[in-house]
Amino acid sequence: MRSSVVTAASPEETAAAGEALARELGPGDVVALTGALGTGKTCFIQGLARGLGVAAPATSPTFVLVNEYRGRLPVHHVDAYRTASLAELVDVGLLDLMGGDGVTVIEWADRLEPLLPPRTVRVAIEGLGDEPRRVAITRPA
Ligand SMILES: Nc1ncnc2c1ncn2[C@@H]1O[C@H](COP(=O)(O)OP(=O)(O)OP(=O)(O)O)[C@@H](O)[C@H]1O
Ligand SMILES: [Mg+2]
Repeated sequence: MRSSVVTAASPEETAAAGEALARELGPGDVVALTGALGTGKTCFIQGLARGLGVAAPATSPTFVLVNEYRGRLPVHHVDAYRTASLAELVDVGLLDLMGGDGVTVIEWADRLEPLLPPRTVRVAIEGLGDEPRRVAITRPA
């Protein structure tokens, strides 16, 4: 397991941390984000998507569970905040997405912990409001 921690002093730095992680990602990778409401999960994913060559800014899926972007790899952006059950996520095909060739990034990943593959990259963000964010990234062995 390899871990790293960065401090992000602005939304741009949070996004830059996501953009940096994107350079390590390949087909089939899963990135699980945790952190309280408004810590910067979407902001991090915007940078990550940019790093994967996605042109349009990432927006959190609101009315659907999964947004799709096209970059050098397909990016699936899942937000489990409003998810009622694990079955709902299985029904929309989350396991197939995670088993496919794209990169799957998940906000509120603690809500679907049992579905995450062992190779999942963990991103835990702390800090609220104007505070700097602590972004801890843990990669599988
Ligand atoms: N390092 C930072 N310093 C200050 N503000 C930041 C930092 N990173 C992100 N933010 C700001 O925090 C706010 C919340 O960001 P964002 O929407 O990405 O959070 P989130 O974790 O996705 O929230 P939600 O739980 O609602 O999905 C935004 O206004 C964003 O610009
Ligand atoms: Mg969000």
